[in-house]
Amino acid sequence: MSALVIGGTGTTGSRIVARLASMGVPARVASRTAGTSAADGPAVAGQERTYFDWYAPQSWDAALHGATSVYLVPPIGALDPAPVMVSFLERARDAGVRRAVLLGSSAISRGGEGLGRVMTEMPGLIETSVVLRPSWFMSNVLGAHIHAATIREQGEIVTATGNGRIAFVDPDDIAAVAVRALTGEPTVTGELVLTGPTALTWDEVAALLSERLGRPVTHRAVGVPQMATHLAERGVPVDFARLLAELDAGIAQGAEDRVTDVVERLTGREPRDFREFLSGYLPEASERCR
Ligand SMILES: NC(=O)c1ccc[n+]([C@@H]2O[C@H](COP(=O)([O-])OP(=O)(O)OC[C@H]3O[C@@H](n4cnc5c(N)ncnc54)[C@H](OP(=O)(O)O)[C@@H]3O)[C@@H](O)[C@H]2O)c1
Repeated sequence: MSALVIGGTGTTGSRIVARLASMGVPARVASRTAGTSAADGPAVAGQERTYFDWYAPQSWDAALHGATSVYLVPPIGALDPAPVMVSFLERARDAGVRRAVLLGSSAISRGGEGLGRVMTEMPGLIETSVVLRPSWFMSNVLGAHIHAATIREQGEIVTATGNGRIAFVDPDDIAAVAVRALTGEPTVTGELVLTGPTALTWDEVAALLSERLGRPVTHRAVGVPQMATHLAERGVPVDFARLLAELDAGIAQGAEDRVTDVVERLTGREPRDFREFLSGYLPEASERCR
């Protein structure tokens, strides 16, 4: 088999590419930057980069050439990705793709418009289709994410989730499940809601961060309009910021307060918890002082 990994430079995609490489499975990393920069070497030895843009359909055929499986990260920030994604899936089917694994979200169900329509149409287009529906990523406290930026700059996390709990999941666990789905071992189909082992409030995550970083990190609970403004001020398009803030309101009502056994069932090991995740990415305060 050969896999095309859309979003192969991103949070889950890069981890999938690394896992496929370690298994000796050929993978092609799809990126808008492929072929455009001096830093454009293979992301992982043996993996190939290909230019791909959801909004440049002329890039699709070359990216799909020879691929039998595709991992799909939707165009980031698109309110309605369905038209472009359904066209792409038709092209993928015609190019010989047999398995498609879509990165959805626990907050988005089949039906309606947007990604819900992609989820409805995918099984009729591709022989085997899998929708991964992860809860919120643990990695949102790292790197370029807005929560990570406010942790660094203000020592706080701002949300409209109140005391709502979220079963945060390690993106590496998402990648492990995605690789099972892409390689078809064991046979995986349908929709999979992926969570970590425990549902936590943001107050509890802030306490874990304080402990790990050796400095106070707090959670500031705000209302939905303030959250939308906060996100928009940090560069999220206004409509998308409002959507994300409304998802927070759902969390405050308990929408993400549940854990599933999907990661353990498909990988044979327990999902990583948040404390363990942080210890893998953030040096302990005492270590950073050395
Ligand atoms: N963060 C969470 O808590 C969470 C929870 C559940 C679901 N999700 C879902 O996870 C997905 C990924 O989110 P993320 O923030 O972690 O992003 P990410 O995977 O870190 O980065 C986005 C990826 O998409 C690619 N990309 C963006 N626009 C593209 C375009 N027009 N054409 C082709 N590729 C494009 C980027 O590649 P290049 O820049 O190299 O082109 C990059 O690899 C989103 O759909 C989100 O809804 C996130």
